[in-house]
Amino acid sequence: MPTLDSLADLLEDEIKDIYDAEKQLTKALPKLAKKANAQELKKAFEEHLQQTEEHVARLEQVFDQMGLPARGRKCEGMQHLIAEGNDMIAEADDEATRDALMIAAAQKVEHYEIATYGTLRVWANLLGKPEVATLFEDTLEEEKEADSKLTQIAESFVNQRAADAEEEGEEDEEPRPARATSRRRAVAVHGSRGRR
Ligand SMILES: [Fe+2]
Ligand SMILES: [Fe+2]
Repeated sequence: MPTLDSLADLLEDEIKDIYDAEKQLTKALPKLAKKANAQELKKAFEEHLQQTEEHVARLEQVFDQMGLPARGRKCEGMQHLIAEGNDMIAEADDEATRDALMIAAAQKVEHYEIATYGTLRVWANLLGKPEVATLFEDTLEEEKEADSKLTQIAESFVNQRAADAEEEGEEDEEPRPARATSRRRAVAVHGSRGRR
């Protein structure tokens, strides 16, 4: 285990950490895209997978510029974030609820990345490596965009679901099976109003 005695050591260690984290995400994101019910969310995960692959490539550029081999160090933080998200997703039966849960889990991941790239950018600048700092800045901006995209989707969901619940209350008071209710919600999330 190398010792961390200087900012240069910290920078190197943190780059290895996020390199591994990004690689874990290239495996996790396709699974999220597959499980997402709302098309908009599915698309957001697919698009962020492409960006994540670019983040991996950008980090390889960083390793290259710093004269280091492109080698990661197991990022336990990301490992646990992904595991926690997967456990919760496995327990959510309702499609719209599962989508909301996946957004929450993905945003925790984005915030981890935002914190890391923000730190890396500052450290690289302090250590007189502005070209490397620019690469971190590029990724940082994309992580922030991905995070706000997820916020937008979450907000449109909440509104749609609230509207749907209200409509259901007005339409009839008949009790309906739980399954039918969740299907109606899924339809509302899609934005399709064909059935009504
Ligand atoms: Fe990333
Ligand atoms: Fe990301």
